Amino acid sequence: MKQINRRRFLSLSSSSAIAVLIAQCSNGNTQEKFQTFSSQHKINQSQDGILEVNLITSINQINLGNKQAYVLNYNGKIPGPRLEAKPGDTIRINFTNKLPQPTNIHYHGLHIPITGNADNVFLKIAPGDRLTYQFQIPQNHPAGLFWYHPHFHGLTAEQLFGGLAGLFIVRGELDEIPEVKAAEEKFLVLQDFALDRQGNLLPSQELSIMTGREGDLITVNGQSNPNLTIPPQGLLRLRILNASTSRFYRLSLEEHPFYLIATDGGALTEPIEISELLLTPGERADILIQANREPGKYRLLNLPYQRVGMGMMGRGMMGINAPENQPQVLATVSYDSKVAAVPLPKKLIPVEALPEAQKIRRFQMNHGMIPGQGMAFLFNGQPYQLDRIDTQVQLNTVEDWELINTGIMDHPFHVHGNAFQVVSRNGKPEPYLAWKDVVLVKPGEKVLIRMPFRDFPGKTVYHCHILDHEDLGMMGNLEIQA
Ligand code: C2O
Ligand code: CU
Ligand code: CU
Repeated sequence: MKQINRRRFLSLSSSSAIAVLIAQCSNGNTQEKFQTFSSQHKINQSQDGILEVNLITSINQINLGNKQAYVLNYNGKIPGPRLEAKPGDTIRINFTNKLPQPTNIHYHGLHIPITGNADNVFLKIAPGDRLTYQFQIPQNHPAGLFWYHPHFHGLTAEQLFGGLAGLFIVRGELDEIPEVKAAEEKFLVLQDFALDRQGNLLPSQELSIMTGREGDLITVNGQSNPNLTIPPQGLLRLRILNASTSRFYRLSLEEHPFYLIATDGGALTEPIEISELLLTPGERADILIQANREPGKYRLLNLPYQRVGMGMMGRGMMGINAPENQPQVLATVSYDSKVAAVPLPKKLIPVEALPEAQKIRRFQMNHGMIPGQGMAFLFNGQPYQLDRIDTQVQLNTVEDWELINTGIMDHPFHVHGNAFQVVSRNGKPEPYLAWKDVVLVKPGEKVLIRMPFRDFPGKTVYHCHILDHEDLGMMGNLEIQA
């Protein structure tokens, strides 16, 4: 790191800084300066009620989709180590920032304190600094697939796009349902990268940042097209996270339906059969797949999806954001012999119906020009400001939030700290109850969500989970008052 001219680094715009930095590092003798890590993926599980892990973020050479890449990572791994805990557990994360930029950690989807050294996105961990995150998973926390990623405003998109993301699993009731327990469990972390031929991160163009940057290297658990084998018991449980900065995944498996058993915030009341699954950034899904077709190989596909209107931004102008017209193969699911398929669970965990809301608020999502600043992404006409409280709510109340997209791009809306339920889209009631923390709001759409504010007062944020939009202003401060 020493040879980097610090002033030059600081003078670069943040979006190209990492790319330049990495290019400089990779020109030198990397073996000497950077520790190389084994790619072995060790799970970090809590023991006797405690999960303690050391997490180091740095830039290293890593094997990514069969090539060497210089990317941002936690503990030398892409994705970062998978953390697993149970309700009631104490979590201690000794975090060290070896990046040349400030960063922090957000625990996406966990219902834990939003203040102190817990899920506090206002913390700043400077280059070279350490911080111990400590919190407890509440006794009544639902089982589910959550995740951690950086959340330092202004650098969130860049740091995620560099590779920083990891799973945080809470074990519980859902995992104990006999059919679910019998299934072969696989985790899929979907990420995309933009690398040059040497494996350095490419700087992003302004226009692609505006629409939300995408890379043409798509990885599943850091690999290209991994093979997922279904063992003889015949049931596969895929637990999928979209950890991409902006890319949407429209998933489908050849000849096999999916049985959705859990969404962002945990289990559904009963499995729902779907033929495809759209996952916007930050969203998770838990699906079961029965191996009941002809034995063989089936491709898990990413079908084309158009997330930017054709209006002022034509496809040609979008550069790497131009949607692929062909399905892409993300992974291959295979099984050898015809098996006696394990039955699907009939019932899962009842999703509680929320009481009527005490208050309704409106959030309009759009973009616009800010004099002297250029393009900004806005909630109710305003770009994010660190010290302005945008929304004040009362602890132990339930609110309805109406999310209206008056722009021309899709915006996946996300709130920290508490999950919500989608009540209706454009006035049409949702067909089933589910806990979510990210919901897609398409141009022209009006999505009504219902959210209880429970247990934890303090200040946190809501934002678009196309993280470039978040960094460009589409975020608001939420204060939960005790
Ligand atoms: Cu994954 Cu503020 O979010
Ligand atoms: Cu979050
Ligand atoms: Cu957005």
